[in-house]
Amino acid sequence: MTRHEALDLTKTTISGGVGTDRRHDSAHKHVTGEAVYIDDMAEPAGTLHAYLGLSAVAHGTIREMDLSEVEKAPGVVAVLTARDVPGENDISPPGLHDEPILAEHEVHFLGQPVFAVIAETREAARRACRLAKIEYDEQPALIDIAEADPKNARLVTKPLALVRGDAEKAIAAAPRRIKGRMRVGGQDHFYLEGQIAFAVPGEDMDVTVHSSTQHPSEVQHMVAHALGISSHAVAIEVRRMGGGFGGKETQANLFAVVAAIAAKRTGRPVKLRPDRDDDMTATGKRHDFLIDYTVGFEEDGTILGADFTYAARCGFSADLSGPVTDRALFHCDNTYYYPAVRAVSAPLYTNTVSNTAFRGFGGPQGMVGAERIIEEVAFALGEDPLEIRKKNFYGEVDRNVTPYHQTVEDNVVHRVVSELEESANYAARRQAINEFNAKSAIIKRGIALTPVKFGISFTATHYNQAGALVHVYTDGSVHLNHGGTEMGQGLYTKVAQVVAEEFQIDIDQVKITATTTGKVPNTSATAASSGSDLNGMAAQNAARQIKDRLIDFAAERHGVPKEQIAFLPGRVRVGNQEIPFPDLVRQAYMARIQLSAAGFYKTPKIHWDRDKGQGHPFYYFAYGAACAEVSIDTLTGEYMIEQVDILHETGKSLNRAIDIGQIEGGFIQGMGWLTTEELVWDEKGRLTTHAPSTYKIPLASDRPKVFNVTLADWAENAEPTVHRSKAVGEPPFMLAMSVLHALSDAVASVADHKICPRLDTPATPERVLMAVERLKADAGK
Ligand code: MTE
Ligand code: MOS
Repeated sequence: MTRHEALDLTKTTISGGVGTDRRHDSAHKHVTGEAVYIDDMAEPAGTLHAYLGLSAVAHGTIREMDLSEVEKAPGVVAVLTARDVPGENDISPPGLHDEPILAEHEVHFLGQPVFAVIAETREAARRACRLAKIEYDEQPALIDIAEADPKNARLVTKPLALVRGDAEKAIAAAPRRIKGRMRVGGQDHFYLEGQIAFAVPGEDMDVTVHSSTQHPSEVQHMVAHALGISSHAVAIEVRRMGGGFGGKETQANLFAVVAAIAAKRTGRPVKLRPDRDDDMTATGKRHDFLIDYTVGFEEDGTILGADFTYAARCGFSADLSGPVTDRALFHCDNTYYYPAVRAVSAPLYTNTVSNTAFRGFGGPQGMVGAERIIEEVAFALGEDPLEIRKKNFYGEVDRNVTPYHQTVEDNVVHRVVSELEESANYAARRQAINEFNAKSAIIKRGIALTPVKFGISFTATHYNQAGALVHVYTDGSVHLNHGGTEMGQGLYTKVAQVVAEEFQIDIDQVKITATTTGKVPNTSATAASSGSDLNGMAAQNAARQIKDRLIDFAAERHGVPKEQIAFLPGRVRVGNQEIPFPDLVRQAYMARIQLSAAGFYKTPKIHWDRDKGQGHPFYYFAYGAACAEVSIDTLTGEYMIEQVDILHETGKSLNRAIDIGQIEGGFIQGMGWLTTEELVWDEKGRLTTHAPSTYKIPLASDRPKVFNVTLADWAENAEPTVHRSKAVGEPPFMLAMSVLHALSDAVASVADHKICPRLDTPATPERVLMAVERLKADAGK
């Protein structure tokens, strides 16, 4: 924008303010390849490359480690083992101390980092890794949670229990009861940009690390501990990630720490980027779960009591498994009221990679359990599952207390579901599908409409805080920095919109700058979908401080009451005159007014007592619903997604274009999780699905043939969030449950919808086929 445009005194709106469909700030750079990711950064002269040597066994002690051939290999500069860690050999989240950077005596999973090679080129480091001779005394390994001893299982962290009423009694007294078990698969993040870190040593103790991380502050502390230095010597910088999805909340620590140790050791910049196979083998994923459930219900389908055990494969260390399995329990209700409920978690130790955050953070696995019991009840009674869903929705005035004793105050599920039922034409399509199936012997169709209610806030209360830094320069342009990280979700754009709106300047006047621990300290991970809620508010707070100073100054300088000062597009009205924003800024500067501010925000209202299993852990809920129609081939199990209709609630959207992108992307990623993405470990603990050749993420051709996404932005957030918007990053992921249940519905049609297909996930064509065969056999067909 030219200065002339900025000074236009007749403008009625700014460009890129709140509520405009502004494109992602880097959209054009993503598609042209101009967006700079860490591996694209110019490498300073002397840059070295590190590579990790991984354990070849799932459990054992290291008897002998001979790295002499590695050291002698061409191009190798240094080889690091646990002994070379100057400080603490630990990258576990604060207080846990259960995850070494490099293994010491024992290894706990196949793929655990044991040593690192630093060489002149990445290729040389990679090749040298293979020359290591390590001998292990192998020990028995527990790979699958189904094999864990339920009585004596080893847990990685303390389990949680949510209890309201007496579920056992309610279920025993219920007219109908069903007990079952469900397996829910894990998921690899498959971010397009893999894990990477680039460490540049500075003077004294200093080191700067460019890290592809959602949690710069934690990486900063990890690097400091590993080097045995103060956090003030460590700067972490992140301009953008090529996707994180939870996979870079803690998993980036390892790479940053090894690169930093190598950089300080050699005095040269060091880059560490594993290839895709090693990334998939050595980094944590979504937890797979075994859900045991019992439900008691009335003849009319009203649930009286529910009991759940959520057992999760956590891997060899706790990582985020405590909070992830907690969040699974927090969503064992989804949108349903249980008069009596008991839900317990079992975070199980296994000799597999330590599982971690992934979009929804355990919530999706929790909700899948809730939707399974709905289905069980529906098929047992021969009812349409949608009717059973509606019958059990949380009430708007009563029947509204969750298993964790928080009252649902902002319930809009009834409206969302009934609007979608209308717009997707559910009843007529259900009828048409029944008619189609009656005539079609091999291809069967299925439909399902499933709701979502997702709790917004970190359940660890102290994470719900954020900071921002705003500078206004004397030409009226603005420098914006905050603690949130950009991973493609559009956070930077949204926060810039908020700041542009405050000052009433065009968004092009707001410079979005890379997240760095040196500008905004002690930040939380960009996670729990709360990025824009937290950082948007912190940035607004910073902008308002500067605005207040400008107002005070203008009132005094021009002798007008403060009430007569208003920020208009590109200018400020001061009494009878309108002063271009840059001019007022310049006047303020000359009068020695501070034009920079640090903003802060903390989420109100929330509290949580984990020992009691009671509190108000969520500030609010985000709601949505999806209706999916599928067709399956009952001879092969193959399927197609015919149509998906989504109605998702965003409050007053900050940016509808970005929100729709989040909904579409989240849905497709959820669909991949529930349908084709399958993780398979062999009995030795080797992940056999460690590349796109064997791990199938959704392709463009897998998307729904018809895909309608609508925002339910008729209601503003009942809570005073940033411009009354709602978080949108994770909730749409769970809309994909509609596809699972549509598949289930199609399978159930082969037995007249009287038997619950009990589809485990991912519902691969193989599982669909087996379920069809099983139902046909059970129904005597
Ligand atoms: N969208 C893109 N494009 N890339 C991502 O990595 N991560 C998701 C979601 N949407 C992700 C994404 C996850 S797991 C979370 S928690 C939120 O974005 C984080 O960003 P937010 O809090 O700003 O919504
Ligand atoms: Mo998202 S799983 O909270 O990073």
